Amino acid sequence: MDAVRKIGNHVILSLELWFNKGFPHRLNPFYHLGSLTFFFFWIVLVSGIYVFIFFETNVAGSYPSVEYMTHDQWWMAGIMRSLHRYASDAAVISIFIHMFRELFRDRYRGVRWFSWFTGVPTLWLVVILGITGYWLVWDQLAQYVALATAEMVDWIPGIPSAMVFNFLDNQITDRFFTLMAFLHLLGLPVALVFLLWTHVSRISQVDFNPPRPLAIGAFLTLLALSLLKPAVSHAPVQAGHSPVVLNLDWFYLNIYPLMDKMGPGFAWSLSIGFTTLLMLLPWLPPKKEQPCAEVELTQCSGCGQCARDCPYGAISMRKRTDGKKAEFEPTVNPTLCTACGICSGSCVSSSPFRMANATLKSGIEMPWFTMDALRQEVQSKLKALTGQGRVMVFGCEHGVDVTTLGRPEVAVVALPCSGMLPPSMLDYVLKNGADGVLVTGCRDGDCYHRCGNTWTEQRLAGEREPKILKRVDRARVVEFRISDSSGERAALNQRLDAFRRSLQPSA
Ligand code: HEM
Repeated sequence: MDAVRKIGNHVILSLELWFNKGFPHRLNPFYHLGSLTFFFFWIVLVSGIYVFIFFETNVAGSYPSVEYMTHDQWWMAGIMRSLHRYASDAAVISIFIHMFRELFRDRYRGVRWFSWFTGVPTLWLVVILGITGYWLVWDQLAQYVALATAEMVDWIPGIPSAMVFNFLDNQITDRFFTLMAFLHLLGLPVALVFLLWTHVSRISQVDFNPPRPLAIGAFLTLLALSLLKPAVSHAPVQAGHSPVVLNLDWFYLNIYPLMDKMGPGFAWSLSIGFTTLLMLLPWLPPKKEQPCAEVELTQCSGCGQCARDCPYGAISMRKRTDGKKAEFEPTVNPTLCTACGICSGSCVSSSPFRMANATLKSGIEMPWFTMDALRQEVQSKLKALTGQGRVMVFGCEHGVDVTTLGRPEVAVVALPCSGMLPPSMLDYVLKNGADGVLVTGCRDGDCYHRCGNTWTEQRLAGEREPKILKRVDRARVVEFRISDSSGERAALNQRLDAFRRSLQPSA
């Protein structure tokens, strides 16, 4: 599985790199796939409501009503129909890339299993939504879908095998049609909303909306497609004839040709087998996790910043238990904590200037990488720095491998996330022998730990607690975000060299 993830990660990072050339990094669609899917669902919802105004939910009326929209009112209902179809297709594309990206970037195992596990059933719901949607048009494609679905359902042992003949003879009743309409318009969408709420319920700071320029670009692309290639129906259903020529929507209806070729048993086995495999992936093999964060009440002011910053909702505040003046204290839920260290970075007690002659203790710590251990590593690496343009690099383990940057003038410290870095550490480093500090890690908008790089950026910009002190010379601090793709490693080296040159006194 490791090898699959490595290859997949390489492919996806290369694609992203290509997009990064055309988009500002923050607007790279790969970094907003979950929220883009939500945006496509909004378009589907609004266009669906409009189309429903003209749609007749009975067997005889549905086809003519869709034809009326497509041809007579093409300028509004027709466009809405096309938007409805293309946004649905776009949602399937973004869901699949979202899924594979989470898999290849290894964000689906360990404590993070829940979003993956609850994401898988959404695939079924979305596909069934699409299938029922095609059914409602009641053209020859709908008849094909109805026949093929009936064949699949008839295959299930215990179900009376009469459905196929009903659809072939156009014996479909208005009641059955209303059931389909109910499923497509209400039942399945409500179930999907509930499932999506569950999907993101264990993480915090969820990115529901893509950046506005990206949303506008995506909408205009779908609109252009709707104008250039409007969605149209097939010929009306002919009783007693099975449909011949079909333009399949491969995003939703791909299982049917497979069933035609291999039989319903194979189609069922493949679908259920693939779903089961996907659901089990977080445990194939399970992730080895570091011990979760621990609260040190003697050092905690109860400010709650760690709880606000935790991207996994693993920290909550409760009434103080140690009788101190502060009203609240943080408590960590070990089933949600990924041990990313972001909470240590957000704790004011993590300042390396504290407890200079004793063991540094923070209000919240990673037992496997304490603030004292970090300070000791920084101190020993500062001592070893020599030459001109001495720089300390702090890098996250999920960006470029920073250890390759080390040399006598450049010291390197790797962190589980750049969000673990308390801003006071930069001040400390500059006061204790380095000429500059370079902070690197995942791309803007693409933090492995969801929010770490955003929090660091905001702390260094003085917009989030704990803020960098005003006395720190900002010309000596640089942030450079880069993904771990071979194409970008050189850029980090170049940035480091340029930064070092800027720190040296000009001759
Ligand atoms: C119906 C479509 C889906 C939508 C709208 C959706 C949306 C989202 C959103 C908004 C996030 C949070 C992104 C963030 O703020 O960091 C997310 C996270 C995630 N999704 Fe989905 N998702 C969908 C389907 C799926 C599927 C099919 C899978 C995989 C089987 C999946 C796996 C994940 C994982 C692993 C995370 C990351 C959780 C973490 O960071 O710990 N999602 N999704």
